[in-house]
Amino acid sequence: TIQTDAGLRTPIVAVLGHVDHGKTSLLDKVRGSAVIEGEAGAITQHIGATAVPLDVVSQVAGSLVDPEEFDLPGLLFIDTPGHHSFTTLRSRGGALADIAILVVDVNDGFQPQTEEAIRILQDSQTPFVVAANKVDTVPGWQVDEDAPIKQTYEAQSDRVRQQLDESLYSIIGELSDAGFSSDLYWRLQNFQNNIGVIPVSAKTGEGIPDLLAVLMGLAQRYMKEEMEIDVTGPGAGTILEVKEEQGFGKTLDVILYDGTVRASDTIVVGGQNGPIVTDVRALLKPRPLAEIRTEKRFEKVDELAAAAGMKIAAPDLEDAMAGAPVRVVRDRDLDDVVEEVQAE
Ligand code: GTP
Ligand code: MG
Repeated sequence: TIQTDAGLRTPIVAVLGHVDHGKTSLLDKVRGSAVIEGEAGAITQHIGATAVPLDVVSQVAGSLVDPEEFDLPGLLFIDTPGHHSFTTLRSRGGALADIAILVVDVNDGFQPQTEEAIRILQDSQTPFVVAANKVDTVPGWQVDEDAPIKQTYEAQSDRVRQQLDESLYSIIGELSDAGFSSDLYWRLQNFQNNIGVIPVSAKTGEGIPDLLAVLMGLAQRYMKEEMEIDVTGPGAGTILEVKEEQGFGKTLDVILYDGTVRASDTIVVGGQNGPIVTDVRALLKPRPLAEIRTEKRFEKVDELAAAAGMKIAAPDLEDAMAGAPVRVVRDRDLDDVVEEVQAE
């Protein structure tokens, strides 16, 4: 289970943005794998979840993230689809998140689903940063693989830097039109009332150390100040997907955002014809850094703590619905839990 001494749970980080602006590629870069190659036409059609442990975050971020300074166990990233037909999935991802990355292609700027994502973040009051992606596409850009952005930004020619600045300031202008004050992240004193804009390239890895460092800082502050989360109580989660798995029948891909789930638990699950009461048959955990959508190998475990992506095998899941709640009963009154699920 992922939990630190300080008891802070793993923050959930939603990745939102317009189609093709590079959300999956950014996560791939962090993961060092290639989920993008497994997707139909490279268009994300589902919500995915990837747990990135603290040691990997600090490995990727280098000197920008000192693991000693953080109580967080790592970050749980939620990838969402940018295609216009997936509004419900985006809202679901946005609503689950503690913090978010809004990905904007520096060439395209704000697009319809960028604006939709902003509204989702505004409505759910989710703190976010902006990843201004694809900086490597500025003509004449000199690549400094995986470098912190300030270093590579300052090494560019004046002409390249000016062209990038133009794109970045138009993004800052569009954020201002949407009611957010923002600036390049290294110019900000605090992220409380300002949105940090981080130029990145998912292709070359430039700026990814900065993005992770800013996310860790934001998550640490936000989790400490705003959240007292019980990571040992009966679990609460949301169904991402209902899937047939060989040997298990219908299973649930779940994001657990509170408490724990045990292999011995009775759970209540939202279904098409009302709440389903069932017993967990197997609790399956994806490997760290694996993407739950494409993962084939799972480890059977006795218990998992929030926040985590997991697969739950149980009988009677035929009517379970994506987006519906999952609640662990444990020592609570079953009727109360059923009512809670019904009310959602
Ligand atoms: P949806 O899931 O469909 O919303 O798209 P997405 O936002 O996940 O975009 P994806 O990561 O699939 O990337 C779209 C295209 O942009 C792919 O061809 C990527 O290779 C390319 N791309 C992403 N990031 C970068 C980048 O930083 N630089 C360059 N040159 N290409 C990039
Ligand atoms: Mg994608």
